[in-house]
Amino acid sequence: MPTIIDGKKTSQDIKNEIAARVAEIKSEGGKIPHLAAILVGNDGASQTYVGAKVKACHEIGFESTLVRMEDTVSEEELLAKVEEINENPDIDGLIVQLPLPKHISVEKVTDKIKPEKDVDGFTPANVGRMALNWPAYVAATPYGIVELLKRYQIETSGKHCVVIGRSHIVGSPMSILMARNGYPGNATVTLTHSRTQNLKEIAQTADILIVALGKPEFVTADMVKPGAVVIDVGIHRVEDSSKKSGFRLIGDVKFDEVAEKASAITPVPGGVGPMTIASLLYNTLLAAERKVY
Ligand code: GUN
Repeated sequence: MPTIIDGKKTSQDIKNEIAARVAEIKSEGGKIPHLAAILVGNDGASQTYVGAKVKACHEIGFESTLVRMEDTVSEEELLAKVEEINENPDIDGLIVQLPLPKHISVEKVTDKIKPEKDVDGFTPANVGRMALNWPAYVAATPYGIVELLKRYQIETSGKHCVVIGRSHIVGSPMSILMARNGYPGNATVTLTHSRTQNLKEIAQTADILIVALGKPEFVTADMVKPGAVVIDVGIHRVEDSSKKSGFRLIGDVKFDEVAEKASAITPVPGGVGPMTIASLLYNTLLAAERKVY
C-alpha cells in the first residue's frame, strides 16, 4: 500500500506550530498577526471558505476582520476598501475572496493590494518574487503542496515532475517551484495542459505527478508509473445517496486504482485541501513578523 499523504494531520501540525509562535509573541508583547478578508456577495462556497479562514484565525490566536460587501458594490468602492486596509497599520494580511462579480476587474483589485499584505500571493510582485526564488508570499495551494513534499521527505532532485493544468494559482506556480534550485525543487518539469498531445504517455513517465486540471477522476491507473508520487489538487462534489449529506467528494485522480500503483498519494478529501488554510495562516504570520518584505 502507498503512503497516504495526510493533509488534514499536516495542516493541524502547522496550525499548532503557528499557535505556539503566537503564544510566544503574546508573551513578548509583540504584534498579534491580523488577517483581513473581503467577501463580496453571497456565493455559498466563498462564504464557506472565508468562514473557515476566519475560524482558523480564531483557533490559533490571530486577530481577524471580515469585511462583507454587497454584490452590487462598485469597483471604486471595493478599491477604496482595499486601499483603506492597505493603509491600516494594525492589519498585516489582506485577502479578497474570489470570484468577484463580473462588473469588477479582478486584475485591478489584485493589483491594488499592497504586496507586503498580499498573503494570498496573487499580486504580480509576489508571483514575480516567487519565480525569481526571492522571499515571497507563495499562493496557498502550491505552498501547501511544497509543505507536504517536505514533511513527507519526498525526494524531488533529478526526478521527472509532470504537472497537469497550467492555472495561475496552481499549475503554473507549481511548475516553477518544482524546477527551482532548492528543496523541494531541482526536478525536471513538464507542464501539460488542454492542448498537450500524448498526455497519457507523458504522465506515465512522471516520478511525481501533480494533477490540477479540474476534471473528476481524470487520471486513471494506466496513466501512472509504478512507484510514482501522486498529488491530487482536484475537488468535486458528486451525488451519493448512501451519504447523509447526499454527496461525496472526489478528486482529479481515480484514487482506488491509482493508489495501488503509487508509492505515495494525497486523498480527497483530506489531502491538499486542508493545507491551503495552513498556508494562508503561515503567510500571515510571516507578514506580521516582516519576514518577507
Ligand atoms: N477562491 C478560491 N481559492 C481562493 C484563494 O486561495 N484565495 C482567494 N482570495 N480566493 C479564492
